[in-house]
This record gives sequence, C-alpha cells and structure tokens, in this order.
Amino acid sequence: MAKMHLKFTVNGRAVETLAEPRMLLIHVLREQLAITGPHIGCDTSHCGACTVDMNGKSVKSCTVFAAQANGAEIVTIEGLAAPDGTLHALQEAFREHHGLQCGFCTPGMITRAYRLLQENPKPTDAEIRVGISGNLCRCTGYQNIVKAIGAAAQRLNASKEAAA
Ligand code: FES
Ligand code: FES
Repeated sequence: MAKMHLKFTVNGRAVETLAEPRMLLIHVLREQLAITGPHIGCDTSHCGACTVDMNGKSVKSCTVFAAQANGAEIVTIEGLAAPDGTLHALQEAFREHHGLQCGFCTPGMITRAYRLLQENPKPTDAEIRVGISGNLCRCTGYQNIVKAIGAAAQRLNASKEAAA
C-alpha cells in the first residue's frame, strides 16, 4: 500500500515519516520514532495507556490514524520534564505519593493528568476521578493517583501565584 509522507511535531521536535494510511499513531510513535513512553495496553480504546496530547486534547493514540496527526503538535510523557531533566510537577507528585506500582499505565495517566490540569486547574477529587476515567490502572486502586494529581495541582497553582 502506498505510504503517506507525514510531518508533525513531537515534544517540540519536528518529525517526518512515511506511514501507510491504515497505520495507527501509537505504532508510528513507538516503532518508527522510538517514542516508547505511550504504551499499548488493550488496542480496543479502553485502557488509556496509549494516551498522548494532540493539539491540546488527550487522545488515545491507538484509535487515531497516524495520518490524522499530520501537522499536529503532539506531547508524550517524554516531553513533560524540563530540558535539564527536572521532572514535571505531576511526575514528582506521582513519585512522592506512590501514584504507581508496575508503572504500565503511568505514562498515559500522567499525560492525561497534564491536560486535565489545564482544563481544570483546581479540580476536586471527584473531578479528578472523572477526568482520568478513560485511563485504567490494575495496580493502585486509584487512591494515590488522585492524591498525586491533587498535589501536583496545588504545586502548579502555587508557582503560578508566586510568579503573578
Ligand atoms: S492501548 Fe489505547 S486505549 Fe488501550
Ligand atoms: S501502576 Fe500498574 S497498571 Fe497502573
């Protein structure tokens, strides 16, 4: 099948690749671009392990054709830490509050939480639970994930207020 020439931005870096029209974004990210933070947990759009940020929205990259990402701005878990390696507040909070066990869901969970906190910078615990309802975790029971996202929200809001 003829391949399409695709250009998009991943974590601030312009990338170009060739992909058949049937190829899913998760496969292009992982297999062609070696961006392996987004995981494949189900392939049926249930688990959210493949979540990436595309043009300011959380998407499950196993249900997006790579062709749909042509021209898009994509952020994955690899793009959240600062260039000097300083972790994002969400990554720190997940570490501090034990928001992960096996870690399989974590890249998708944190990438979803990254967008959630931009949609709603001061979420209640109930709003966090609804906000991450598309992301499944088999290990943690969610309690510490909710705690970690709440703690990251507080930290991000405090630094915004300090900078204002
Ligand atoms: S791998 Fe995409 S939702 Fe599970
Ligand atoms: S930490 Fe294991 S699936 Fe979430």
